[in-house]
Parts: sequence; structure tokens; C-alpha cells
Amino acid sequence: MEELNNEIEYMRSFIESGSAVIDGIASSNNSRNDVQPQVEPETGRFLELMVRLVNAKRVLELGTSNGSSALWILKALEHTGGHLVTVDSKERLHEEALKNFRTAGYSNVDAVFGDAAEVAANLEPGFDIIFQDCGKYLYPQLFDKTVALLRRGGLLIADDTLFSLNSGVRPNLGRFTDEYNRIAFGSSDLLTSIIPLGHGLTVSFKL
Ligand SMILES: C[S@@+](CC[C@H](N)C(=O)[O-])C[C@H]1O[C@@H](n2cnc3c(N)ncnc32)[C@H](O)[C@@H]1O
Repeated sequence: MEELNNEIEYMRSFIESGSAVIDGIASSNNSRNDVQPQVEPETGRFLELMVRLVNAKRVLELGTSNGSSALWILKALEHTGGHLVTVDSKERLHEEALKNFRTAGYSNVDAVFGDAAEVAANLEPGFDIIFQDCGKYLYPQLFDKTVALLRRGGLLIADDTLFSLNSGVRPNLGRFTDEYNRIAFGSSDLLTSIIPLGHGLTVSFKL
């Protein structure tokens, strides 16, 4: 067995995206400084798993970037016959995502260029899963809206929610994710836990 030094290497030794487009985005993003980091493979696999587990038909993602997490979700939606709406406010990244979705051959995705709050205000409720991964300052602001858009029994999954503990990573953003966790755990509409994958995933089940 090859030498694996930590839990992350160990987990990743099992996970293959099976998608040349996902792998291509990961390797090019890692050497770019004009794009925020995409989900780690273990987080991508977790999203894929959740979509299959709840047999999701309607998924919303806030924060497309150039499409990596969306592609993990789309891989699973191919099996459930579902559809993804994903939003980003940076036109350049939105255009890249559109290209990546086309290259990967997906048509069951509406990639929307715009502000997450404005787009969310005009969406029909009833989403099975909402993946919150846009500006961290928006997590608390958009909390009520995202819960309202989710169906009962649906999942609200927020990324990077252990930022408040990884103070060396994003010290300024931790206060927003900490506020988000307080709201999510305090909500009587949700049953919530945190999974320490990547920089933390807060997963809430709508009761
Ligand atoms: C961490 S990245 C998303 C990464 C992506 N989910 C992935 O794993 O491939 C956050 C994204 O949120 C977008 N964003 C920030 N503020 C936003 C807003 N108000 N509305 C929509 N998107 C926003 C940024 O442009 C950025 O691309």
C-alpha cells in the first residue's frame, strides 16, 4: 500500500471524480489566483452522495464559480433525473462554468449570472437540496430565504463553516460562518450537524 500520511490523503485515495472536466478544473484552479478554491474531492463526493440519498430532483447552488461542485451534483442528478439551478455574480466565472457544463455534456442545468439574493428572491420553493457556497457574508443574510426555498425533508448544506476555527485560513470570514452556525443550530425548523470535511460542512435537515 502506498504511504499515506494523513486522513485527507487516505480519504482521497478512494475518491475518483470519474470526470475529466472536474479533474481539469481542479488542476487548473490550483495554479490560478483569480478563482476561489473549488470543493475538495471528498466534499464533491459528499454532495454527490446526498443528491442520490434524497433522490433529489431540484437542487439549488449559490456560488457556481467555474462549476466544479455543480459538476459533482450533476453527476448524481443524471441518476435521479433531476435539475440544477446554480448562481454566480462573477460574469467571467459564470461563462467558464457554462463552457464546462457544455464540455461535460449536461443540459439539465440553469447557470444564472446574478446576485444570489436577487436570484433567490425569484425562485419557486420546493428544492430538495440547497448548497450554500457563495460569499460567506451572505450565509446569515440568506438563511431565512434558503430555508423557505427548501421542501420539508430537504437538506441545506453550507460549505466552509469551520472557518471560524481555521483562523489561519480565512480569519475575517469566520465570524459570518460562526453566525450562520448559531442561526442554523438555533432554528426550530432544522435539525443540524457539522461534518468536518474540507473547511466544514453544516448540514441541516428541514423538519
Ligand atoms: C467558494 S466559490 C464557489 C466554489 C464552487 N461552489 C465550487 O466548489 O466549485 C464562491 C463563489 O461565490 C460567488 N459569489 C460571491 N458573492 C456572490 C453573490 N452575492 N451572488 C452570487 N455569487 C456570489 C463568487 O463569485 C465565487 O465564485
